[in-house]
Amino acid sequence: MSDQQGSPGTGLDVASMSIGILGGTGDEGRGLAHRFALAGNLVIIGSRSAERAAAAAQGLGGELGIRGMANADAAEAADLVIVAVPWDGHDALLASLAAPLAGKIVIDCVNPMGFDERGAYPLPVAEGSAAQRAAALLLDPAADTVDQDVLVLGDNRQATDLVQALAARIPGVRGVYAGRLRNCGQVEALTANLVSINRRYKAHAGLRVTDV
Ligand SMILES: NC(=O)c1ccc[n+]([C@@H]2O[C@H](COP(=O)([O-])OP(=O)(O)OC[C@H]3O[C@@H](n4cnc5c(N)ncnc54)[C@H](OP(=O)(O)O)[C@@H]3O)[C@@H](O)[C@H]2O)c1
Repeated sequence: MSDQQGSPGTGLDVASMSIGILGGTGDEGRGLAHRFALAGNLVIIGSRSAERAAAAAQGLGGELGIRGMANADAAEAADLVIVAVPWDGHDALLASLAAPLAGKIVIDCVNPMGFDERGAYPLPVAEGSAAQRAAALLLDPAADTVDQDVLVLGDNRQATDLVQALAARIPGVRGVYAGRLRNCGQVEALTANLVSINRRYKAHAGLRVTDV
């Protein structure tokens, strides 16, 4: 690391990143929130209850500018997200946040741990660790349903038929023939509209061709 601000090669300036902490009302979350806020980052404490999150944020000192939100809103609003809930809440929370967390750096500080009269002990995790489980949950194709058509264009019927069949291999997707090669320009340009839609509606917009 060259200095406290940036992380070389990532193009990310950690000093300006907002940090969301899921389950941030607990000991771990509040400790991290306090230290990152002291370091100057915008911190968002997440909770199952927006009121509890706001109270925890206030409790850490309004002057630090820490905000409190429901977990889903914190996941949406923050640049980078830390998971700080108990193991038994890990899977359900992350599975419910696959969409807002898509494409974000997620730091999982959850320990799969059990406790009995002899103290703490590690719990087995099929994927190997809580972090690998998180990756599996957030990258699970089933969690991210694809509901759109793919416009296929070309001058070779055999080739376009094949590409349509390829698209149809993805559940929820249809490959729809949309014309010859010379008509690709306007389809490619339409992407700019989809990007604008996604930005305005915080969506993953796609196309559905009717009556086909
Ligand atoms: N404490 C540490 O020093 C430490 C150190 C390293 C790692 N860790 C790990 O960090 C995680 C959090 O530790 P902690 O001590 O802060 O735990 P905690 O206080 O027991 O829980 C943190 C927060 O998680 C939320 N929560 C509780 N049960 C939940 C559930 N079933 N589903 C969703 N959210 C739930 C609660 O917030 P709301 O009720 O407000 O939603 C709670 O305030 C644990 O996995 C722990 O192993 C802790």
